[in-house]
Amino acid sequence: MLSAVVAPAVILVLAAGVWIVFGAGAACGVIAIGYGALIVHHVRNLDALTRWAQGGDQEAVPEGTGVWRTAFSAIYRRKRVTRAHERDLAHTIERFQSAAEAIPDGMVVLDTQNRIKWANLRAQALLGLDLAHDMGAPLVNLVRQPEFVRYLDTGDFRDAALIDSHRDAAVTLAIQIVPFGVAEKLLIARDVTQVEAVARMRRDFIANVSHELKTPLTVISGFVETLQELDLDERQRTRFLSLMREQAASMQRLVEDLLTLSALESEHNTVGDEPFAIVPLLLAISADAKSLSHAQHEVTLDVAEPATVLGSRDELASAFGNLVSNAIRYTPAGGTIRLAWRVDGDGSGVFSVTDSGIGISAEHVPRLTERFYRVDRSRSRATGGTGLGLAIVKHVLLRHQADLEIASEPGKGSTFAVRLPARRVRGSRAATENVVVPSGDAAAGAEVAHAGNDHLSH
Ligand SMILES: Nc1ncnc2c1ncn2[C@@H]1O[C@H](COP(=O)(O)OP(=O)(O)OP(=O)(O)O)[C@@H](O)[C@H]1O
Ligand SMILES: [Mg+2]
Repeated sequence: MLSAVVAPAVILVLAAGVWIVFGAGAACGVIAIGYGALIVHHVRNLDALTRWAQGGDQEAVPEGTGVWRTAFSAIYRRKRVTRAHERDLAHTIERFQSAAEAIPDGMVVLDTQNRIKWANLRAQALLGLDLAHDMGAPLVNLVRQPEFVRYLDTGDFRDAALIDSHRDAAVTLAIQIVPFGVAEKLLIARDVTQVEAVARMRRDFIANVSHELKTPLTVISGFVETLQELDLDERQRTRFLSLMREQAASMQRLVEDLLTLSALESEHNTVGDEPFAIVPLLLAISADAKSLSHAQHEVTLDVAEPATVLGSRDELASAFGNLVSNAIRYTPAGGTIRLAWRVDGDGSGVFSVTDSGIGISAEHVPRLTERFYRVDRSRSRATGGTGLGLAIVKHVLLRHQADLEIASEPGKGSTFAVRLPARRVRGSRAATENVVVPSGDAAAGAEVAHAGNDHLSH
């Protein structure tokens, strides 16, 4: 302020001096020239200021002259501080945005009219949005599932809504809306397909187990009632008791199979890598098969190449045993059951059971290893099946990184083959031998069904 009056004051003092020496006319001349120069100086600086103010954000602040230099450098300093603030702010927004992108859930910000204001990439993928086109569009135009529209309309956002993704019906999404600000909403979308599948499996499993236990329990309690209320003769009593025993045995088998499954699923129960010779195991299984068949089938064993297998002998015996017991159970008397072992060119070892039984039509094959899945419930139950056998086989094979290959034709028969990975099989090409065990001489041995389960469940 003070510096701004220095120049006019100096001109006045100079004019006063000139007045004394040269008179009033000369003094007026000095004032006119001095103030004229001052006005030019101010106009030029003002012009520079105007041009700068009208220019873009990147325009450098003019340097200015005289008093203007001070003013311009003050503007320049303030601008530098503002720029630094802007940079900080932009950086913070960027960090927030990358944090929002890093969140594994989809997030959409909706305005008061439920129009899309912002969405992270995950939300765009889950809900099929494309921000380039959909920014500002009402969300219900893009996510049209009735459950979602209803959820948004009710305004009750205490719980999440479950919807099937419109991009893939197999994907289930949980949508949760969180109101914030002034009637704005944050929508969070999460892929809960796995969680839902597990919950459904648990529900199905409990329903199945209850159902399986209900039948024998009903039968037993019916018999108990009869025994209590009726005066039966010794022969009838024995018959009823033996029927009750059968039902109790079926429940026991079910519980044993469930315990086996849970032991196999337990994370703490890791598979042992003991090496064992496959041939003695195959011989034992084939002997059990013959005992189970009661000479009703022709059972043969064909070993193309003896081998040492790394894995749990008990678990594999249980898995192989189940395949064999199925073959016998689902092959009418007079049929053939061929057990075979070979080592393929890639080093994998294959145990196969081929029967000439009833076979399985193609639509059932992918579901056979599901718990309690039976093609013909009554037939399986009549033969004492729990429907857990192949589920146990699948678990054992998973633990051994082995595959189950199923080929079947209704009316012709089936082949169930277990392929053990090469790293679990040490073949001995040199000592190739062919062991064909003729049928008939049923070896001693208990039931082959779930032969190894006892070891697992206790
Ligand atoms: N070799 C086979 N031939 C025809 N059907 C078969 C054969 N093996 C399995 N199945 C079908 O697959 C279903 C499931 O077999 P799984 O071994 O899991 O159960 P299960 O034999 O009924 O009972 P268990 O638990 O006692 O083994 C059987 O009920 C049967 O319908
Ligand atoms: Mg079975």
